[in-house]
Amino acid sequence: MNANIKPVGTYDAERVWRDFPILRREVHGRPLVFLDSAASSQRPASVVAAVDRYETFHHANVHRGVHQLSQEATALFEKARERVRGYVNAASTREVIFTRGTTESINLVAQSWGRSTLQPGDEILLTALEHHANIVPWQFVAQQTGAVIKVAPMDRRGVVSIDAFGAALSERTKIVACAHVSNALGTVLPVREITRLAHARGALVLLDGAQAVPHQRVDLQALECDFYAFSAHKMYGSTGVGVLVGRERLLESMPPWQGGGDMILTVSFEKTTFNALPFKFEAGTPNISGVIGLAAAIDYIESLGIDAIHAHEQRLLALATQQLERVPGLTIIGTAPDKASVISFTIDGVHPHDLGTILDAEGVAVRTGHHCAMPVMEFFDVPATARASFACYSRDSDIDALVAALGKAREVFS
Ligand SMILES: Cc1ncc(COP(=O)(O)O)c(C=O)c1O
Repeated sequence: MNANIKPVGTYDAERVWRDFPILRREVHGRPLVFLDSAASSQRPASVVAAVDRYETFHHANVHRGVHQLSQEATALFEKARERVRGYVNAASTREVIFTRGTTESINLVAQSWGRSTLQPGDEILLTALEHHANIVPWQFVAQQTGAVIKVAPMDRRGVVSIDAFGAALSERTKIVACAHVSNALGTVLPVREITRLAHARGALVLLDGAQAVPHQRVDLQALECDFYAFSAHKMYGSTGVGVLVGRERLLESMPPWQGGGDMILTVSFEKTTFNALPFKFEAGTPNISGVIGLAAAIDYIESLGIDAIHAHEQRLLALATQQLERVPGLTIIGTAPDKASVISFTIDGVHPHDLGTILDAEGVAVRTGHHCAMPVMEFFDVPATARASFACYSRDSDIDALVAALGKAREVFS
């Protein structure tokens, strides 16, 4: 370890690591070194237990039954909503909508707000580093309404500057949809300033918080964005659960986008009236155990402290950057000064997929590919990158294992 990069306070990464049973397993006869948390993080035993407890003792459908189990399931489900509200400091639980994930949250806004509001020639402003989940839904609605997609550029570090963003805004910009943190590059965007500028021009702001919420404090009332989307499975919870937080005033004015049970007040064959927020946007039976697991995941994050997790991951980022920069032929893609704990890289002469396979044989799980951000790969003129990403349970020894495995890969390809 470099003498300048010291452990953070009392954060005990070894103890945190032990909270995640899956991390004790082996792959290919080697201890697992899991460096793919940006794609999906692992779950601590407490989250697995909370989901299991619900499935074993409390399961019934929510919001519909007078019987005891349905009441219990509903109480747990709505308690989870309040837990999510508190974690991101949303103004009210009416603003917290459960979805299947960030992807569905963004599609909801595009199809409900976008389809009912956008006119031909209106502009949807994205940034150059968006995940496909924050591009394709806007392409759909642009095709449906005649709106136009504009892209705020980034520089060679992967930074979207406020100036470049401001220059891309226009009188016709109706919504800005941008990542809070880039999954492919790690860039943290200046979302408070972006929101201020966009609002000054009368545009709404949707932030894709999938890579922010697990790693840093997010205070939605301070950010003042209009919509914020994230996924439970990237924050130590289950797959198939996401959240859309939206301003109540906007959500009230937006039409439902999916029809079905739970989102209605009355239905006849002639006419349907819709339920109040947030249920208006929650058609059908939700992922009840996943939502309850999300509340347990937030309990877990808060037991460690999100600021402590952030400091720990920032230290790992600095340590890993320092060590990877010493690997001959390795280029880090994404060198913004403000980054989350994600490092994308390439190695001269080795295709990232081959690299991923060799690292896997050493027990080291990194993601290789375009990270659902093909425009980013095109911008940096690479077919793909390898990406190591850290979470609360990542340890210094994981970085050592990555560097050792990269040494093996270089031997194979030399
Ligand atoms: C920045 C970002 N946005 C959106 C998504 C999509 O999330 P999900 O697949 O959970 O809907 C991801 C997932 O990788 C992401 O990293």
